[in-house]
Amino acid sequence: MKNYDNVIIFDHPLIRHKIAILRDERTSMKEFRELVEEITTLMTYESLKEGVPTTEIEVKTPLETCTQTVVADNAIVIVPILRAGLGMVNGIHVLFPSARVGHIGMYRNEETLTPETYYCKLPQGIEDKLVLVVDPMLATGGSACDSIQLLKEKGCKQIKFMAIIGAPEGVSKVAEAHPDVDIYVSTLDRCLNEHGYILPGLGDAGDRLFGTK
Ligand code: PRP
Ligand code: URA
Repeated sequence: MKNYDNVIIFDHPLIRHKIAILRDERTSMKEFRELVEEITTLMTYESLKEGVPTTEIEVKTPLETCTQTVVADNAIVIVPILRAGLGMVNGIHVLFPSARVGHIGMYRNEETLTPETYYCKLPQGIEDKLVLVVDPMLATGGSACDSIQLLKEKGCKQIKFMAIIGAPEGVSKVAEAHPDVDIYVSTLDRCLNEHGYILPGLGDAGDRLFGTK
């Protein structure tokens, strides 16, 4: 895959370790859900190194008063792409408990592999927030591209996208369609199969999170 200025692929041993367990077909639904949350928390820590709105406050220590930088109130909105993106929300809430959540419902048409939007509910004032769009799987990139486009049409100006596993095809597609969006991917897999599944991947993330198969 080409190098893109707006793509950050994590190469962290701790994340790699957790992804290895996540991929394993023997991993239970409970463990899968917990791992998705843990990986998301680690990714969020790194992804928000830059671009988080901050504010200064006065703090009185036992010795003196000092000025400190803190994350601005109500600065972040999480937007999971349903269903599988829901599995990542708690992993961000651990760090930002007051982050509001918007939902975009999309499913891939199994024949054309193109996304179809069936739901969209976003918090008021989202256009002025840092929006974190989350989905564990970035396969053809269709769902990510359309979600980001939808958010831009609603006026969102600062958007970051986080996926746990990306396929080169999908990462390139989103990076080129949305050069102004930072794309964070924990690991880049080999390719897609003829059904649009990521190889080696982990199977269907939604089914594994919610036990639907
Ligand atoms: C999966 C996944 C992404 C999408 C990725 O969702 O969670 O949203 O596929 O594929 P793409 O990059 O080719 O668009 P799916 O459509 O299976 O819906 P689900 O989460 O409800 O299972
Ligand atoms: N969606 C998934 O859940 N898994 C894939 O491999 C591709 C899309």
